[in-house]
Amino acid sequence: MSNTPKKPAPGNDGGSNSMWGGRFAAGPSAIMQAINASIGFDQKLWRQDIAGSRAHCRMLVAQGIIPAQDGAEILRGLDLVEGEIAAGSFTFDAVLEDIHMNVEARLKALIGEPAGRLHTARSRNDQVATDFRLWVRDTTDALMGEIRKLQRALVDKAGAHAGTVMPGYTHLQAAQPVTFGHHLLAYAEMLDRDFGRFRDARARMNENPLGAGALAGTTYPIDRQATAKALGFDRPMANSLDAVSDRDFALEFLSAGAICAVHLSRLAEEITLWMNPQFGFVGLSDAFSTGSSMMPQKRNPDAAELVRGKTGRMIGDLTTLLIALKGLPLTYSKDMQEDKEPVFDAAETLHLGLVATAGMIGDMKVNAEAMRKAASAGFTTATDLADWLVQALGIAFRHAHEITGKAVRLAEEKNCELKDLPLAELQKIEPRITADLLTFVTVEQAVTRRSSEGGTAPERVRAAVTAMRARIEKES
Ligand code: ARG
Repeated sequence: MSNTPKKPAPGNDGGSNSMWGGRFAAGPSAIMQAINASIGFDQKLWRQDIAGSRAHCRMLVAQGIIPAQDGAEILRGLDLVEGEIAAGSFTFDAVLEDIHMNVEARLKALIGEPAGRLHTARSRNDQVATDFRLWVRDTTDALMGEIRKLQRALVDKAGAHAGTVMPGYTHLQAAQPVTFGHHLLAYAEMLDRDFGRFRDARARMNENPLGAGALAGTTYPIDRQATAKALGFDRPMANSLDAVSDRDFALEFLSAGAICAVHLSRLAEEITLWMNPQFGFVGLSDAFSTGSSMMPQKRNPDAAELVRGKTGRMIGDLTTLLIALKGLPLTYSKDMQEDKEPVFDAAETLHLGLVATAGMIGDMKVNAEAMRKAASAGFTTATDLADWLVQALGIAFRHAHEITGKAVRLAEEKNCELKDLPLAELQKIEPRITADLLTFVTVEQAVTRRSSEGGTAPERVRAAVTAMRARIEKES
């Protein structure tokens, strides 16, 4: 299939358009054709265009609007066109503007006169709305599948690292120890909401615009329930003006996609940090990293950087369509032809991002020792020390906080961890402190004891892995 539409030679104005040129004496100028044609990108809609035409044709026959024999010819011809496009032997022609007229013109060339009846009771306005909805719906299904795959990759890794201790951060400063499994499951949760956003958008978009005509409905006795059913839509759209001018389904797709991309980007940023030798928390194999052409020692997390970098495009795609639509009066305006490229770009970009991220998570080697070491640096168990004072000695938290501050200062002076502070020195700060406190302030204790609901304790992580697996399997 050729992706470059044929363009007329500069200065050659061609003949008038064979599909709508009845009242035109001359054809469009070359520049008019160049700005008008969408076939360069909307050829992606060919399957949906043919499916829509089949459903429309069958309905026209069933309603007695066109003769059965012509209907049969049209269906036969559509099969032929479909075969040609699938085989890559179809020539897309910019003179015919878009996918709708390319398919119809070829149908005419293949079956002759009966082709002219297909567009009865239909306009390109309801046709393109239908094709595009079908495409976005099918793509939503595919992306939801990829989100589930990435969630599975995260859950598998989380299960393997339910007890692996790493520093948890706030302000990108080590705050409290957490488990790596818990950290990964945070992303699995974000993705679960992304899945839900696509699912909700899908349910809203699954209505049939076909039969709205150019804008006002049609004088023919069409059956919109029948075409809705044939195309897997839940029902016809209720208002013909809305049916041809609404693009919220694309906006919802782009917003769900942009939010999901932002989640991937945050994870990608973390992978980039974790890969940095100064963290050294994870490593990626040759399959997911690249070398430098100049510095032989380097291993770069390019895939993660690109997942992060491409997020800008996703946000741009959403912004593009929001702006394209904001000033449009009802109903269709040609501006709306600009709806497709951002959606196609976002779909491809998000797909890549999801697959590449799942690949990196599966590939990732975890350096538990480096994580543990970083987790115990920076007095990350200071809160636990304060908690011990509260729980064992009944000291008020504010006062315990002050005592802990002194203990931290002592550890700083001695350049040791809290768990290694000499008991005698601690007792100078607070005489009731016992040796029990020192076993309390290890990073392992810190995570094990954070077993509140939704907390980082290994037992909680294991339960969360099981729960997330069940959620994924229940709705895949
Ligand atoms: N290529 C057009 C689009 O994508 C199809 C609809 C054209 N309708 C029209 N009235 N010119 O929006």
